[in-house]
Amino acid sequence: MSTNAGSPPNGEGTGRRLQLRILRYNPQDPDSRPHLQTFEVDEAPNMTLFVALNDIRDHQDPSLQFDFVCRAGICGSCAMLIDGRPGLACRTLTGNLGERITLAPLPFFELIGDLSVNTGKWMRRMTERLEAWVHAQEDVDLRRLEERMEPELAEQIYELERCIECGCCLAACGTARMRKDFVGAVGLNRIARLRLDPRDGRSDAEYYELIGDDDGVFGCMSLLGCEDVCPKNLGLQTRIAYMRRKMLRAAVFPA
Ligand code: SF4
Ligand code: SF4
Ligand code: FES
Repeated sequence: MSTNAGSPPNGEGTGRRLQLRILRYNPQDPDSRPHLQTFEVDEAPNMTLFVALNDIRDHQDPSLQFDFVCRAGICGSCAMLIDGRPGLACRTLTGNLGERITLAPLPFFELIGDLSVNTGKWMRRMTERLEAWVHAQEDVDLRRLEERMEPELAEQIYELERCIECGCCLAACGTARMRKDFVGAVGLNRIARLRLDPRDGRSDAEYYELIGDDDGVFGCMSLLGCEDVCPKNLGLQTRIAYMRRKMLRAAVFPA
């Protein structure tokens, strides 16, 4: 383990000097070996991990890899293991953590380097496999007024649409560790969202073909890891249990 010290003064600091132990590894470099590297940063009031990581990249090590786009908990790209728990760096205040913080990339996804993983590749594969887009039954006429949707139904769909595809649920999922093709809470949530949508004309028997097996809704062990770590606080377990009941019904009473 190596230690890098020193960061610029942060104006009115909190008086804490944070030690960030970061798992470093570049899979593209044959000479790279996974190791923990410690950086020290002066904590500023209301500092997020995202700010601390930028401080390190700007002033100590420009080669440090991690992802961010929105800094506001919307894009899902800054997910990582924070003291062993999946979470968003941009929504995590260092003040809620100890002075010694350990960061590692999300497991389960392809590692790009250091804290950066390729969630997009996995999400795309899942989307294609589950055909996770609206299957309209008739040709869409863009000149026509859109069909009206009841506000309550639109709200229900919007609630499930809040998923930001950060991958935290998969990183916390025991089934995902054992089954590489498990679609996870994120995939099941997506199907639940489409099933609610009146524009999607697929039947439960057709959804069953997509998620009615151990890589889908029957692989879930209902241990709640996904819901515990979901940064958008989606009610994943209720949704998965509901889908399981619907899929069982589709299997027993096919249309
Ligand atoms: S369900 Fe929650 S944890 Fe999973 S990808 Fe969506 S927002 Fe992230
Ligand atoms: S409840 Fe199901 S989907 Fe969620 S973490 Fe556990 S096994 Fe994975
Ligand atoms: S940077 Fe977009 S969710 Fe953190």
